[in-house]
Order: sequence, then C-alpha cells, then structure tokens
Amino acid sequence: MNLLTFDSHEKLHESGASIITGLVQTNPRAVLGLATGGTPVGIYEEIVKSYQRGVVRFNQATSFNLDEYVGLPEEHAESYRNYMNTHLFNHIDLPRSQAHIPDGNSADPVEECKRYDELLLTAGQIDLQLLGLGHNGHIGFNEPDHALISGTHVVELREETRKANARFFDSMDQVPTHALTMGVGTILKAKMILLVVKGADKAEIVHRALTGPITTDCPASLLQTHPHLVVLLDSEAGRLL
Ligand code: GLP
Repeated sequence: MNLLTFDSHEKLHESGASIITGLVQTNPRAVLGLATGGTPVGIYEEIVKSYQRGVVRFNQATSFNLDEYVGLPEEHAESYRNYMNTHLFNHIDLPRSQAHIPDGNSADPVEECKRYDELLLTAGQIDLQLLGLGHNGHIGFNEPDHALISGTHVVELREETRKANARFFDSMDQVPTHALTMGVGTILKAKMILLVVKGADKAEIVHRALTGPITTDCPASLLQTHPHLVVLLDSEAGRLL
C-alpha cells in the first residue's frame, strides 16, 4: 500500500488529479473507474483544469462509474449521472458514449446489472479505480454485510448511508432506498485502486479499513489485499494511523 497524507486539500486534489491524468497521458485508451460523493469533487476540478490547459485528452478513454441511485430521474440534481456531468463530463472531451453509469431508472434493474457487467467485460480490466469511503466502510454502495457480492447488483442502502447522504437532499424521505453498485469483485480486479478520504469523521473508519481485520463487516478492509493500492488522506482522516 502506498499511503500519502496531505496538510492541504489543494495538494491532495492536485495529487489525485495528476495520478489520473498521468495515466491517461501514458495510456490514452485507459479505462477509468470513477466515483461520486463529496470527496472527489476537488480532484475532478483539477482534472478539468489540466484538460483546459491542454495537457491531457480523454477522447479515447472509457469510464465506468461505481454506482447510481435507483429511481431518481437522470436530470435530478442528485443523480450520479447529473453529478458526473456537472463536475466532469460537461467540461472534458470524454465522449458520452464512452462514459458509463448504471441506469438507476431501468425497468429491470437486475437485467441492467447484467448489462453493466457485460460492458465492463467488453472494456477489459479497469486501469484505475477511484474510490471514496463511507463512514461504515462501504465502497461504491457495497454495504457491510455477512457476505459481499462480486458483480454489479441492486443494494438496499443502510440507514446510516441514507442519513450521511441526506445532506445532498431536501429531506430524508427524498433519499433513495436502493442503488445499483459495482461489486467488490469488479473493484478489486482494477489494476490500481486510488482511495481518497478526507475529514476527521472518517479517521476511525480509515484506521479500521487499512489496519483492522479483513472482513465483510468493513468492505473497504478488502482493499488491503490489493497489490496496487494508493491511499490519499488529509491529515485529519489519517490521524489514527
Ligand atoms: C457515497 C457513495 C460512495 C462514496 C461514499 C462517501 O454513498 N456511494 O461512492 O465514496 O458514499 O461519500 P463522501 O465522499 O460524500 O463522504
């Protein structure tokens, strides 16, 4: 594991962005696994700046997002499709046909998961998977459980996850109850994993995920088994390590 701790968010965001843009510069056809949530916003801003400076192009790259809420209209401010458009896709030259997100409005979510896994298979291995971390140790929307699922699947969100994400919605009852998420098998198959965590409220779960036992009760602890894990933390998230 390669662990880097930053005193400033600016430096953390620049570092995360430069790892991603560096990969795409070396391999323009890179397959990127992308994440949502509050954490990667600053990294996406830095990627957009690099693109605007003309140092990187994404026209040959492919991306796969980790997850999407079930039942939110695509144009809903909090759909992950809308998030990705706002923070990244509207500002770079990654063709929309190459930017994949599970369809949370599919009439048949189980079939949609199958379709997503087939797309992933066709694209080959994800070169870099960007990840945030949930307070309960979830990655994507793979919630703590007695067993985890390898491929893309429908998940019922835990109450604590809905509460954590309620800050993005007008009220708790608007937070979706279900989501589609890539499974841990797909995440762990990525050539490289870039885990980014910020904030004092995540210090305990960072400690558990990176130094505690490997257990499905903390899905992020499985990342300890990955041969190429890079972790970017702010000093608050890293304070118990
Ligand atoms: C969300 C997302 C995850 C994200 C995590 C942390 O529910 N599904 O992909 O990494 O929770 O979010 P945040 O960065 O806002 O703390």
